[in-house]
Amino acid sequence: MSAIINNIEIIKAKSTKINDVDFDNLKFGSVFSDHMLVCNYENGKWQAPKVTPYEPITLDPSAKIFHYGQSIFEGMKAYKDADEKVWLFRPLDNFNRLNISAKRLAIPELPENYFMEGLKALLEVDSDWIPKNEGSSLYIRPFIFASGNGFHASPADAYKFIICTAPSGAYFSGKVKVLIEEKYSRSANGGVGFAKAGGNYAGQFYPTQLAIEKGYQQVIWTDDNTHEYIEEAGAMNIFVRINDTLITGPTSDRILDGITRKSIIQLAEAENIPVEVRKITVKEVVEAAKNGSLKEMFGAGTAAVISPISGFGFKDEDFDLPELEDTYASYLKKRITDIQTNKTEDPFAWRYEVK
Ligand code: PLP
Ligand code: COI
Repeated sequence: MSAIINNIEIIKAKSTKINDVDFDNLKFGSVFSDHMLVCNYENGKWQAPKVTPYEPITLDPSAKIFHYGQSIFEGMKAYKDADEKVWLFRPLDNFNRLNISAKRLAIPELPENYFMEGLKALLEVDSDWIPKNEGSSLYIRPFIFASGNGFHASPADAYKFIICTAPSGAYFSGKVKVLIEEKYSRSANGGVGFAKAGGNYAGQFYPTQLAIEKGYQQVIWTDDNTHEYIEEAGAMNIFVRINDTLITGPTSDRILDGITRKSIIQLAEAENIPVEVRKITVKEVVEAAKNGSLKEMFGAGTAAVISPISGFGFKDEDFDLPELEDTYASYLKKRITDIQTNKTEDPFAWRYEVK
């Protein structure tokens, strides 16, 4: 069955998998909605996107994605409110960042209307997949990879842009204990750390496995040059609260310009929470933990929104963070999720209605 929404051709799945999904017990990103958006880059041009059934992709073994890792992605969420209205959060920021990543990985940039109209058509077709339960949402994964062939180490001549979606619950089940990394790096000056390149995450897995073996759940990345500055928390931006001041590092070649991070900064500034964007040293965090001025640490990203840290390890020593009644983490998480899910005013015009 075929139809057209927003000028996008829709090829419907023959049957739905939705009845097999337990919406009350959703994990993160592990069941996938019935459809996906597919757009091919061929003959020097992005071709018209289509919504198709969610299905495997056939690629030639010489496709450059397998050999040279030319691949980027984004992460966003759709929410359904009590009136069945569907909302996105700052979607154009994801679109713009996808093209920033594309440029760095020598992937052709995507036109905005293919991204936005394609996404809207996909959400309309799979609207029943957008969870309404508290704490759940439809996680949206746009990605582009090199589907063109050849062993020559140069950019491919063909690419696929795909958007898949997954009704999802929480990314982490509780607070996380983290290890401040002293040896490995996720990114370097002049590198691709500021892009959402697939290989950045592959490079994180091994050091993270080592941290897990030592009893931690995540790694706090430090700068590649000196390992003296705190940069990111796993696949999230990091915030540290010393006394009443919230601090996060400045974005750079090495740090992803997170949409949650910049929303937290804006929100904190608007609500008179003292906030500083400056380099954070490992030394000051360890000292603050020792003298009791370190009140909170948390990761910030689309998947978990805000993920509180219970303690950290550094040089064979463990530091616990205090259990506070009122945390910036829980306050800011509620403010952001209330805006995302249309439960409150949106003074920043972040919310985007899909209609
Ligand atoms: N840092 C890294 C390395 C990430 O992969 C992400 C996830 O997207 C973030 C930070 C948070 O960015 P955002 O808030 O835009 O999801
Ligand atoms: C995030 O959304 O916070 C992410 O980092 C995405 C993650 C699943 C890689």
